[in-house]
Amino acid sequence: MFITFEGTEGSGKTSQLHPTADFLRQQGRDVLTLREPGGTSIGEQIRKVLFNLENTEMHPRTEILLFQASRAQLVEDIITPHLRKGGVVLCDRYADSTLAYQGFGYQLDLEPLRALIAFATHALKPDLTLLFDLDVEVGMRRRASGGEWNRLDAYDLAFYQRVREGYHQLAREEPARWVIINAEQPPGQVQEAVCKAIVKRLRQKSG
Ligand code: TYD
Repeated sequence: MFITFEGTEGSGKTSQLHPTADFLRQQGRDVLTLREPGGTSIGEQIRKVLFNLENTEMHPRTEILLFQASRAQLVEDIITPHLRKGGVVLCDRYADSTLAYQGFGYQLDLEPLRALIAFATHALKPDLTLLFDLDVEVGMRRRASGGEWNRLDAYDLAFYQRVREGYHQLAREEPARWVIINAEQPPGQVQEAVCKAIVKRLRQKSG
């Protein structure tokens, strides 16, 4: 079972990852938590290049390819082997981030992006994608109050609105894969919604 967490700034998806892993481990599942970009030694090196504030001249195509390079390594080395063992993988962002940020955010054609993603991932798709959805301005206010700043944090409100709308469009295209979670609720309620969605999908998969 491969589960991805997606969302815009300040959606709180990252803080839901570990409690979700604990919940699944209590049910005897072998759970791995990962993040993108990164998650492997090579991927973490690529992450540094992507986030480096000095890399102001980075072209969107370079950025896209670096995200796919990090992803290819993660799929090959970590995700696929763990899924083959019957484990659960929880990944903080995955291919849908490329479609939402680089595709909808930069307003680029999605088709070449989809082809690159398929190449990088061997067409590995999540069984379940949780969209932590919230008003973009609420998210930006949350984000402004904490955390480190990196090159990819410099987007404006209109960019994040396109990203959010992009996520919704992706969810409409594949309703069986996506579950939209209201990320403006208190964290405890968000966690409940996450666990409910996962339990439901696990039942569907085993039944
Ligand atoms: P990060 O600091 O890891 O945090 P968060 O997931 O909480 O935002 O930032 C990852 C950044 O990388 C984020 O701005 C989204 C961006 N990103 C893309 O633009 N494309 C991608 O394919 C991925 C995986 C991430």
